[in-house]
Amino acid sequence: MPTPKRTAVVTGGAGYIGSHCVAELRRAGWETVVVDNLVHGHRKAVTGGAFAEGDVGDKRFMESVFSRWKTDVVFHFAGFAYVGESVKDPAKYYRNNVAGGLGLLSAMTKAGVKSLVFSSTCAVYGVPSQIPIPETHPTNPINPYGMTKLMFERIMADFGSAHGLRYVILRYFNAAGADLSGTLGEDHDPETHLIPLAIDSAIKPDSELTIYGTDYPTPDGTCVRDYIHVNDLVEAHLLAADYLASGGASDIFNLGNGAGRSVREIVETVGRVAGKPVRFREGARREGDPPRLIGSSSKAETILGWKPKLTSLDEMISSALRWRIEHPEGYGE
Ligand SMILES: NC(=O)c1ccc[n+]([C@@H]2O[C@H](COP(=O)([O-])OP(=O)(O)OC[C@H]3O[C@@H](n4cnc5c(N)ncnc54)[C@H](O)[C@@H]3O)[C@@H](O)[C@H]2O)c1
Repeated sequence: MPTPKRTAVVTGGAGYIGSHCVAELRRAGWETVVVDNLVHGHRKAVTGGAFAEGDVGDKRFMESVFSRWKTDVVFHFAGFAYVGESVKDPAKYYRNNVAGGLGLLSAMTKAGVKSLVFSSTCAVYGVPSQIPIPETHPTNPINPYGMTKLMFERIMADFGSAHGLRYVILRYFNAAGADLSGTLGEDHDPETHLIPLAIDSAIKPDSELTIYGTDYPTPDGTCVRDYIHVNDLVEAHLLAADYLASGGASDIFNLGNGAGRSVREIVETVGRVAGKPVRFREGARREGDPPRLIGSSSKAETILGWKPKLTSLDEMISSALRWRIEHPEGYGE
């Protein structure tokens, strides 16, 4: 008899990383149910499976999702992720990322769904005192966005004690690139991520990138970040689901490449890969940007068996560039 397919509910599955995760889950034979309110997501980014339009904070709606689909695991990508906006409007972030997540957790508890993989962030660490950053590094977020993610991590632990929830927290560094099929990519509005902005500044005549800060204590004076290809990132989610299914205890894992890339290095690489220079100007530092963020992912490699494959910056940029050239208006919705 064939093994029954596992079913995943993917919140935020119409967004950038969530849509890539859905595609990967389907390639691996999962049934998928995307839950997204399309505040930032795109219906066209959901390339297969079921789609339930609604808000994760709406407990009744989430209960209806879990009563309709017998769910093995929830991947929780839904949330707001603009650091600057979180500073200006913290209530929006606490409401969605913390209170909204409570609706999801309560509905999961009621339905007896006990496995959760959560999209957290390296922003929970704040300004690091150690590079590369291990999971044991103290957490001290310097903006409301990072704090909402840390609070939700804590809430999950409490649901673990009270209701037997088992979870994997994945603290991403900087997601980059696009699915190698060419059908999915990054389409944020507004876009704040460096690689798509640099690509637009190379290929669109009206775009110009601003480099925020050129006097950091780094080799070329610009901020250094750890970029991880989105396909490698989502691969870790499937491994996390397997880990939970085989009885693994709740745990936290960093996901990065362990390699630091400066803003100037990204600008130069985008220009070279695109065959056109990136137009940019140099601006002042932005508040709350740590000079260097590089993660240690050795725990994910050891325990989850995760090994990033698309580690070259050229690969990340060329996949993002291809999608951007073929989809100049993004998903167009
Ligand atoms: N992109 C990165 O580099 C990065 C880094 C660290 C962490 N993360 C986290 O990963 C997750 C996904 O990031 P992304 O870049 O794909 O973001 P995204 O904005 O592209 O996707 C988020 C999706 O969630 C949906 N959503 C938001 N609030 C919702 C709600 N209350 N109910 C239902 N749907 C809701 C949006 O419509 C969107 O489709 C986020 O939680 C983010 O904090 C991203």
